[in-house]
Amino acid sequence: MPIIIKTPDQITKMRVACRLASEVLDYIAPFVQPGVTTGELDTLCHDYMVNVQGCIPAPLNYAPPGHKPYPKSICTSVNHQVCHGVPGDKKLKSGDIVNLDITTIKDGWHGDTSRMFAVGEASIQAKRLNQITYECMWKGIQQVRPGGHFGDIGHAIQKYAESHGYSVVREFCGHGVGSRFHEDPQVLHYGKPGTGERLEQGMIFTIEPMINVGKKDIRSLGDGWSIVTKDHSLSAQWEHSVLVTETGWEVLTVSSGSPPPPAFVTPA
Ligand code: MF3
Ligand code: CO
Ligand code: CO
Repeated sequence: MPIIIKTPDQITKMRVACRLASEVLDYIAPFVQPGVTTGELDTLCHDYMVNVQGCIPAPLNYAPPGHKPYPKSICTSVNHQVCHGVPGDKKLKSGDIVNLDITTIKDGWHGDTSRMFAVGEASIQAKRLNQITYECMWKGIQQVRPGGHFGDIGHAIQKYAESHGYSVVREFCGHGVGSRFHEDPQVLHYGKPGTGERLEQGMIFTIEPMINVGKKDIRSLGDGWSIVTKDHSLSAQWEHSVLVTETGWEVLTVSSGSPPPPAFVTPA
């Protein structure tokens, strides 16, 4: 499938869906405390999306080819879980790190974003992984401009992650996002500059690097969804939905509670 270029009117609707997804993270942040279960976080987010925002939680019953329908409304990936952690009865404890991944559908348009949270007192190593992974995402975002290549994004992320001794998960990638949850292209978080398709104004896609403290290898759990590191090392992920503008990029998944960009980021 070709990469869809969004019209100005569609971009306006994407801005709304994306802001709402980010606002779910603002809403849930104070609840991410020792003792809460990932299932409780899922219920809170579900009710907020449906009853307060008038959104549809995109993950619920999402069933891409080869997968059984996803049973919950958000993804909660704890510690060595890489992505697609399914919320359940497990209580978060002090020292855990957790990714909450939110995808809203508003007026038919998808907003997709995730953040890392440290529960209680996390280790220096865990906090550093969260921080470097956040910076990896922004290293990717900074490459976004019309005429650039998707390989520029992947290369910037891989270079930054590996320079800190971390590894980049290969099996999952960013993706076009719009009227469908996952559209072309696949946005790899590793690669070579000047390779891959060219970016054009009006494209919208996610950048969502998964970064491991240990080796890059992963395996999937028996629930059919959860992905973990093979060596059980810690893994982190951040995600934004990004628009290619005339001169560079615009992050669409922003709200009042969004963490500020790293100091190395200058406006596009
Ligand atoms: N939100 C994830 C992403 O960033 C996809 C989750 S699919 C689900 O692409 F079914 F697990 F929700
Ligand atoms: Co995504
Ligand atoms: Co997501």
